[in-house]
Amino acid sequence: MASLKKIPPGVGPRHPQLVVLVGATGDLARRKLLPGLFYLSSAGFIPGCRIIGVSLDDLDAESFRTFAREALDQFSTRKVDEAAWSTFAATLDYVPLAAGSAALRSAVDWAEQTLGKDSRRLHYLSVPPHAALSAVQMLGQADLVEHSCVIMEKPFGTDLDSAVDLNAKLHEVFSEEQIFRIDHFLGKEPAQNILAFRFANGLFEPIWNRNFIDHVQIDVPETLGLGNRAAFYEETGAFRDMVVTHLFQILGFMAMESPTSLEPGPISEEKNKVFRSMLPIDPKDVVRGQYIGYRAEQGVDPESDTETFVALKCLVDNWRWAGVPFFLRTGKRLAEGQRIISIAFREPPKSMFPAGSGVGAQGPDHLTFDLADASKMSLSFYGKRPGPGMRLDKLSLQFAMHDTNLISDVLEAYERLILDAMRADRTLFTTAEGIERLWEVSKPLLEAPPPVRLYEPGSWGPKSVHQLIAPHAWRLPFERAWRDPNPLGS
Ligand code: BG6
Repeated sequence: MASLKKIPPGVGPRHPQLVVLVGATGDLARRKLLPGLFYLSSAGFIPGCRIIGVSLDDLDAESFRTFAREALDQFSTRKVDEAAWSTFAATLDYVPLAAGSAALRSAVDWAEQTLGKDSRRLHYLSVPPHAALSAVQMLGQADLVEHSCVIMEKPFGTDLDSAVDLNAKLHEVFSEEQIFRIDHFLGKEPAQNILAFRFANGLFEPIWNRNFIDHVQIDVPETLGLGNRAAFYEETGAFRDMVVTHLFQILGFMAMESPTSLEPGPISEEKNKVFRSMLPIDPKDVVRGQYIGYRAEQGVDPESDTETFVALKCLVDNWRWAGVPFFLRTGKRLAEGQRIISIAFREPPKSMFPAGSGVGAQGPDHLTFDLADASKMSLSFYGKRPGPGMRLDKLSLQFAMHDTNLISDVLEAYERLILDAMRADRTLFTTAEGIERLWEVSKPLLEAPPPVRLYEPGSWGPKSVHQLIAPHAWRLPFERAWRDPNPLGS
């Protein structure tokens, strides 16, 4: 399949890669990492790759291959080519965690002999926060630090103290240049498109500030429930799982000043300035929710206080954004699965349109980004309804990457970021400083969380979510659907 694709020079790493995938039988590995590594290897992005799965499960290499194949069949978004699979399967090995660091070391030695001596190591730690450190120590004991980088999954710590502690202990084993803290939302094409849209065009940047923007919504409702992640979710909850990670990072891209270049340093610096300007989150500006039935889920404490929904107001107190609220919302088992950023512009100071004309009746004009895997954008505005008189309707201009012939070039977020880490490109990764600051602004909320309010599965969360945003209104559910990218079904 993919070998037919022409990979432009320089997009992949120069060296063969040995991947140690810790948490290899977990949910993320199944859904994203194994399908992603299969695509990157078989499409020719990587000049040689071998993968050693590590996890608590007592498997051997053959049963890990079966596991990986099932994962691909279930979750790969591309057709699995049998010849490509056979080649990939032969590169998979497995070491159970219980076998210890010496067994891991000898599996690595064997794999590296096959790859040749200029290969590099990528350790991917797809493990919950409490297990991250012991995984790092195991890599240290196995003496696998040289020629390596380590991808750390989010959430990075569970609060400020644990993040500071984790960073300090991590630095005892790996240097900062070797650590890639992943936030897959930054690997999504549309997230990077925010930067292109803002900084490659002269049209929008001049109005990208408090004089023209009334408020911003970053809204990521999910219809998904817990899947088989109850244990992870019980100790994490919606705020740590989604907000302190993905939603805040997207806020960073939305709100940052133009970086001096597209290099990792300047981008992180501008994003971190946004985080430094964020005001600590006031628990009064937060709604925590839990869907009815959560406490009866297998693996969940019957008295659990974990939130499966969170909505909050954040303020970025700098010259560009002072007084402009950013409303964030996310949760499980909600009415729709969407990932949008919606920017509401200020209304005109005066209106000459007659009462009843419809001006303003459908909220302010908006610019909306859809963060689904392929970019979509829409600009909605008031325009005249055809016919006599002056009646106004909300109209929209829409762009969907699906309408172009470039859609097959889209890399899934994890694919993009794994490739970047293999190339040692840190542009889309988060920094220790940024993450620690985000835990710091979260401190008042984590210390005094408001009580969870129950909501019906399939709803938009607890009712108080409307008070939080009043006098504005949540943009979702949309009054108009996105235009069908393929209206003839061809
Ligand atoms: C993950 C969270 O990081 O992001 C999940 O742990 C969430 O709870 C997922 O469902 C959403 O990611 P995506 O790419 O499907 O929007």
